[in-house]
Amino acid sequence: MTPRPTRVALVTGARRGIGAATVTALAEAGLQVVAAVRSPTSTPGADLTITGDVTDAGDVHRMLAEVADRLGPVDVLVNNAGGFLRPGTTLDTTKEEWEQQLALNLTAPFVMTQAVLPGMIARGWGRIVTIGSVVARAPALGNATAYVAAKAGVVGWTRQLALETAGTGVTANVVNPGTTRTEHLDDYLRDSDRAGADLAASIPMGRLGDPAEVAAAVRYLVGEDAGFTTGISIDVNGGVAMS
Ligand SMILES: NC(=O)c1ccc[n+]([C@@H]2O[C@H](COP(=O)([O-])OP(=O)(O)OC[C@H]3O[C@@H](n4cnc5c(N)ncnc54)[C@H](OP(=O)(O)O)[C@@H]3O)[C@@H](O)[C@H]2O)c1
Repeated sequence: MTPRPTRVALVTGARRGIGAATVTALAEAGLQVVAAVRSPTSTPGADLTITGDVTDAGDVHRMLAEVADRLGPVDVLVNNAGGFLRPGTTLDTTKEEWEQQLALNLTAPFVMTQAVLPGMIARGWGRIVTIGSVVARAPALGNATAYVAAKAGVVGWTRQLALETAGTGVTANVVNPGTTRTEHLDDYLRDSDRAGADLAASIPMGRLGDPAEVAAAVRYLVGEDAGFTTGISIDVNGGVAMS
């Protein structure tokens, strides 16, 4: 039997947090991993690091061309880059903030996916995983309303994408983390009057998630044996929102 070539996985937002944990998990699973970061850095476990802004279509195409040149086409795309700058309600969110949140959390995964999908379909194999959020399922005050809309959009779009690609060898799925202990969360806690212990107390399991626990769900979805799993969202949230 001809040995299977090593799959090439691209993880966006890979400098730290869930993205960095995903790079580690996929490298341990034997994939060649590309870390896409916003500014130059090195991500442990990555075979290649590329730099650019995922909301800039020119950067996206330049980054993908670099991956193709150095390692080959992308077989596994993990749309992880995302987040929000400040909490905001429908009344106090500006139209610019709304558009910025949708651009980062919803449009960037779409543009990135559109760029790699034709090659995946032509090769008869591909995995698209987008990192959503528990906020798509469980509204809570203190969120950014545009971020919630974008993350809910990710779920709807991924189901549609799964149907569009069914039977091509490509799958599309979402991982929805609950509150996860990352540097980003530490920054948020420093700037707000909330404490990590309060957040943990609001989770049935009584603790925050670990980035590696989110990465483990991604690792499953991108595996060879997950080929019959498409259009789903895996919730990694300590029991906050149950299926
Ligand atoms: N932590 C949680 O509790 C939690 C809960 C639910 C969902 N999530 C989701 O999980 C994902 C990862 O979040 P995280 O908690 O690990 O936080 P994080 O460390 O802030 O990760 C977000 C990453 O996205 C990158 N990024 C942001 N804007 C970008 C842009 N325009 N172009 C390229 N990269 C960009 C950031 O780059 P820099 O490193 O340069 O800033 C950062 O590395 C996000 O989609 C987030 O919405 C997190």
